[in-house]
Amino acid sequence: MSGIRIDGLVKQWGDMRAVDEVSFSVGEGTLTVLLGPSGCGKSTILRLIAGLESADGGRVRIGGDDVTRLDPARRRVSMVFQSYALFPHLDVRENILFGLKVRRVDASEREARLVEAAKMVGLESLLHRKPAQLSGGQRQRVALARTIVSKQPVCLMDEPLSNLDAKLRAEMRDEIHRLQRELNLTMLYVTHDQIEAMSMADQVVLLRDGRIEQIGEPAWLYEHPQSEFAAQFLGTPPMNVLPLSSIDATVAGADGAAKLGVRPEKLRLADTGLPVEVAAVDYMGAETVLRLVHRGRALMARVEGRTHVAPGDTLHVAWDPADVHLFDERGRRVRDRKA
Ligand SMILES: Nc1ncnc2c1ncn2[C@@H]1O[C@H](COP(=O)(O)OP(=O)(O)O)[C@@H](O)[C@H]1O
Ligand SMILES: [Mg+2]
Repeated sequence: MSGIRIDGLVKQWGDMRAVDEVSFSVGEGTLTVLLGPSGCGKSTILRLIAGLESADGGRVRIGGDDVTRLDPARRRVSMVFQSYALFPHLDVRENILFGLKVRRVDASEREARLVEAAKMVGLESLLHRKPAQLSGGQRQRVALARTIVSKQPVCLMDEPLSNLDAKLRAEMRDEIHRLQRELNLTMLYVTHDQIEAMSMADQVVLLRDGRIEQIGEPAWLYEHPQSEFAAQFLGTPPMNVLPLSSIDATVAGADGAAKLGVRPEKLRLADTGLPVEVAAVDYMGAETVLRLVHRGRALMARVEGRTHVAPGDTLHVAWDPADVHLFDERGRRVRDRKA
């Protein structure tokens, strides 16, 4: 039993509520991503679960036990940080085994776990190097190996890949996801990167200003964003959201709606529709992003491959009514209407 459950969690820094009544569960052996912009409270929630901060309200349960006031060392969690937190004067082997020594795991058991973990993350030939002699990706692997040898059922990761370049980030993302499944870890993974969230998560918890904005499977958040914020946080380029009053088009079923949202990949170039001027054309190989302007408002269209469209062209964009998202004045989703 290693699921995590938090209920009404609160953390206050002076007058500011960094975490404001947050509740969610992470099923045993599943991966939840805590997603949101910088400063929204992700790290604070992780640290409250690990016991590195104390809660001002609410409860943390791990494996059904209330651990809200329990010492961090007794919560059976491992933690991986963005900074890797390696000891510079210790070699890879000693860095990996440090926690086990502190916990007085016996030497033969330590050795067995080291061999297993080093193999899983491909560090066998680097065990005698110091952190300074490793690349960023290799350092991150040492931090992962430390988690593996700890054999803790719950793993908390705080932006573990932020210091890596894009290609390595994609590789390490796959590696972490594979380890999570192989070891059947209950994982809470913090990131501000929606691509990491979309590609890894069983469940995404989207945070904004210390509160949950939306929670669910990645596809649910992408296809049914419950707010303008969620609509624009997930997806690159973000969803186009335009005030209904600003567009030369009629929209069906718009009772109570103030804004219209359409994803860039759902816009198509057409003979009729919304008139736009092309401001820029970003060719990216497999696709092209067109930056468009309608009555002074920017919007983007994503089309496959290359296009003949050039800056300065005027054209029309159209969309399928089923691809429209409607939001009210405050940015809340207007209930999907049955046709
Ligand atoms: N030790 C602290 N003292 C005061 N304010 C803090 C402290 N730690 C974090 N905060 C504030 O709490 C808010 C949430 O921070 P954090 O959880 O680190 O956000 P995130 O990880 O999502 O970027 C921020 O406004 C941050 O400045
Ligand atoms: Mg953080």
